[in-house]
Amino acid sequence: MYKIAIIPGDGIGKEVMESGEYLLDKLDLNFSFEYGEAGFECFNKTGTTLPEETIKIAKNSDATLFGAITSTAGQPSPIINLRKELDVYANLRPIKSYKGVKSIAKDIDFLIVRENTEGLYSQIEYEQDNKLIANRVITKKASEKISEVAFEQCKSKQKQKVTCVHKSNVLKKTDGVFKESFYKIAKNYPHIKTNDLYVDATAMYLITQPQSFDIIVTSNLFGDILSDESAGLVGGLGLAPSGNIGDKHGLFEPVHGSAPDIAGKGIANPCSMILTIAMMLDYLKEYELSKKINNAVETVVNNQKTLTPDLGGNSTTMELTKTITNEILEGD
Ligand code: NAI
Ligand code: MG
Repeated sequence: MYKIAIIPGDGIGKEVMESGEYLLDKLDLNFSFEYGEAGFECFNKTGTTLPEETIKIAKNSDATLFGAITSTAGQPSPIINLRKELDVYANLRPIKSYKGVKSIAKDIDFLIVRENTEGLYSQIEYEQDNKLIANRVITKKASEKISEVAFEQCKSKQKQKVTCVHKSNVLKKTDGVFKESFYKIAKNYPHIKTNDLYVDATAMYLITQPQSFDIIVTSNLFGDILSDESAGLVGGLGLAPSGNIGDKHGLFEPVHGSAPDIAGKGIANPCSMILTIAMMLDYLKEYELSKKINNAVETVVNNQKTLTPDLGGNSTTMELTKTITNEILEGD
């Protein structure tokens, strides 16, 4: 039996989590659930955006499912701190186009593996001699670990190629090590093709030839920028899931925030959460079920009969959730 921590958060985080819980309930899995609070409403109630109790629940679970939160002015980000607490160093962001949704190109299907703990997001900034300095921390250890995740993802997804994205012509030391670490790990995967590209060229190739990518592995800031660019390629945040994984923990969350502009209206696209659940099931080695969920989302979205407004339809969150759930169950 798996123990799952559920942290709904605020706004549409709670709404898409309801969809997720509806689906998990119908799947009749041998899972148990524990609930944690985080975010803006939690702060108003308890005085903290991420209570110790929530961290404890996440640490004691086999996987954590997180909705989305509304940021609280002057308070630390609960999701960034939870990622740190769980030491989930790899951020996985799949990018996939659907026939039923407008996108720049057809047949886009790749994965960005972003280093989640260092790079320019190490948050070491200071002032010295009238200069403002931000440290770009790159370690061999973290670079090798993230490359290994990328190759393992390539293997399990039966993809062909891993592309290392860097800027080692300018950042000779830091990205020199990132690139060297990538090729060192590549030796353990002789059947997987490799190449490396500069980040600026990659930004262009994502527009001109997005189908040429299978797995991209890159450092923190580059991964952040390229993954938003990539989500824009294929139809937006309502279809964007993500997973954060480490050696001991997995934390799964839609890419989007609490969306105050549509919160409370019952029209948030639940696919972000349903696809996130599929990623969590993959992590828990429930591969068949994960595939079934991905296929059902694809079928329903391509069918175009039941879509939320962000995808051009007029269905509600629960209508789309139930349609996808039925599609999964009928496939049995
Ligand atoms: P957002 O991601 O909440 O919304 C951006 C736009 O995308 C909005 O127009 C929203 O309606 C739309 N959208 C997002 N998810 C959707 C879905 N599932 N279905 C349909 N439309 C969807 O970003 P925004 O508005 O910049 O931030 C709102 C709040 O969320 C802020 O307090 C922000 O700090 C927080 N935030 C939290 C994140 C998290 O919990 N991981 C991530 C990003 C932002
Ligand atoms: Mg971002």
